[in-house]
Amino acid sequence: RVLVTAGGTREALDPVRFLGNRSSGRQGYALALVAAARGAEVTVVAANVALPDPNGVTVLRVSSAAELHDVTLAAARDVDAVVMAAAVADFRPAMTESAKIKKDAGPPPPVALAPTADVLADLLAGRRTGQVIVGFAAETGDDEADWLEHGRRKLARKGADLLVVNPVGDGLAFGQKDNSGVVLTADGGEIEISSGPKTSLA
Ligand code: CTP
Repeated sequence: RVLVTAGGTREALDPVRFLGNRSSGRQGYALALVAAARGAEVTVVAANVALPDPNGVTVLRVSSAAELHDVTLAAARDVDAVVMAAAVADFRPAMTESAKIKKDAGPPPPVALAPTADVLADLLAGRRTGQVIVGFAAETGDDEADWLEHGRRKLARKGADLLVVNPVGDGLAFGQKDNSGVVLTADGGEIEISSGPKTSLA
C-alpha cells in the first residue's frame, strides 16, 4: 500500500486569487502509475492536478496545504510507504478575504503570511513501525554541488528515509515531461538519476 501526494497547493487570498506554485502533478502521477504497475495498492492525494486520473489508483482531491495535511495524515495510517511529491506551501495568507479584493479601494496593504503545518514532519512524528517516508526537494543552485548540498542539509534536518532532490528553474522539472535528480538515502547513499521521463525517476 503506497500513498503519493502530487501537484501544488493553493492558498486563497480571496474567492478569486491564490498563492500557488508551478507543480503540475506529473511526477506524483508517474510515481503512482509505476507503484500500481508493480502491484501496489495506490492512493494519490492530488492538489490541483489537471491530468487524467492514473488507472487503477484512488485519487483524493485537495487544494490547500491544510487540506492536503489532513487528508494525507488520515490516509497514511495504513500504508507501507508515503511519497511526498507534492509542492506544499510553507506559508499562507494570514487572512483570506471573503469578498473579492477590489482595486478601486486603492493599493492593498502587503500580504501578511502565516506558516502552514509541515506534512512530512507530522508523518515522520506519527509513523508506524516499518513505514517508509520519502520526501522531495526542488532546489535551485549555480551547479549540482550547490543544489545537492541544499538537499543533503534538508535530509539531515527532516529525517526522511529517502529524499529526491531535483534541480528546478530555467525550464527544469516543473510542468516538464522529463526530470532528473539525485536520490539521497538516510544512510548517506546518493543515487544519480539522469534526465528522462518522470516514470524513470519513479
Ligand atoms: N512539505 C510538507 N509540508 C510542507 C512543506 C513541504 O510535507 N508544509 C514536504 C514536501 O512535500 C517535500 C518536502 O517537504 O516532500 C520538502 O519540501 P520543501 O518545500 O523543499 O522543504 P522546506 O523545508 O519547506 O524547505 P525550503 O525552505 O527549501 O522550502
